[in-house]
Amino acid sequence: MLKIKNLHVAVDGAVILKGVDLEILSGQIHAIMGPNGAGKSTLAKVLAGDPAYEILSGEVLLDGKNILELEPEERAHLGLFIGFQYPVEIPGISNLQFLLAAYNAKREQPVTEEVFRELLMQKLQLLEMKPEFIDRNLNEGFSGGEKKRNEILQMAVLDPVMTILDETDSGLDIDAMRVVACGVKRLFTPEKGLLLITHYQRLLDYIRPQFVHVMIDGQIVKSGGPELALELETKGYDWLQVQA
Ligand SMILES: Nc1ncnc2c1ncn2[C@@H]1O[C@H](COP(=O)(O)OP(=O)(O)O)[C@@H](O)[C@H]1O
Ligand SMILES: [Mg+2]
Repeated sequence: MLKIKNLHVAVDGAVILKGVDLEILSGQIHAIMGPNGAGKSTLAKVLAGDPAYEILSGEVLLDGKNILELEPEERAHLGLFIGFQYPVEIPGISNLQFLLAAYNAKREQPVTEEVFRELLMQKLQLLEMKPEFIDRNLNEGFSGGEKKRNEILQMAVLDPVMTILDETDSGLDIDAMRVVACGVKRLFTPEKGLLLITHYQRLLDYIRPQFVHVMIDGQIVKSGGPELALELETKGYDWLQVQA
C-alpha cells in the first residue's frame, strides 16, 4: 500500500532523511519510534507534500503511484491522511465548514450541511467530543488534547486508506489518549494501513503494531515486532545510537 524507497530529504540545505526504506501492506499497523530530531516529523511532512522539504532522491509509492509528484490535495484524494504533531489553527473557518469542504471534495454528489451535521454527530460520539466543537473555528483556542482529538475527527470523516499519525499521543492525558486510541482502532480495517509515529510506548499498549521501527539520524536503524517498543521503553535509544 505505502512503499518508501531510499528517501533522502533536505530542508534549508541540511540533509534530514538519509535513506528511509519502509513498506506498509494493507491490514498492517506500523510504528516509528526514535529520539527528538531523528526526522520522524520530517517524514510525515514529506509524505503530506509540504513544499518546504526538498526531495534529494527516492520514491514514495501509494498503491503503486509515486505521490512525490502530486499536490497535497491529490494525495488526500488517493486516500492518504496525515495527522500532524502540531495541528494548525485556521481562524475564520469553522470546523464544520472545513470538514464539509474536505468531505465533499472527494464526492461526486456533495452532501448538504444538514446531512453532514448528522454524520459528524456520530463521529463526535466515537471520540467522546462535545457537539460545540464543530461550530468553533478550526483548532483556534483548542487545547493540545482537543487539537489531537480533532485530527482524529478529521480522520473519521475522511475515512482514509493510509493514515500516518505523528505523535497523536503527545499532549494527551491518559484518559484522552485511551479515547483517541480506541477511536483510531475502530476506524482501522484490514483494507487499510496505519503508521503511528510516537515517542512513547504507551500508545502502543492501546493500538498494537505488528512492526516497530526505530529512526535515528534520518534512517531506520532497527525494525522488529511489538517487543522492540518495550525494549526501547526500558533501554532508551542510546544503545542503538552506538550501533548506528
Ligand atoms: N523547516 C525546518 N528548517 C530547519 N530545520 C528543520 C526544519 N524541519 C526540521 N528541521 C530539523 O530536522 C531535524 C529533524 O526534525 P523532526 O523531523 O521534527 O524530528 P522528530 O520529529 O524526529 O523529532 C531536526 O534537527 C530539526 O531541527
Ligand atoms: Mg516530531
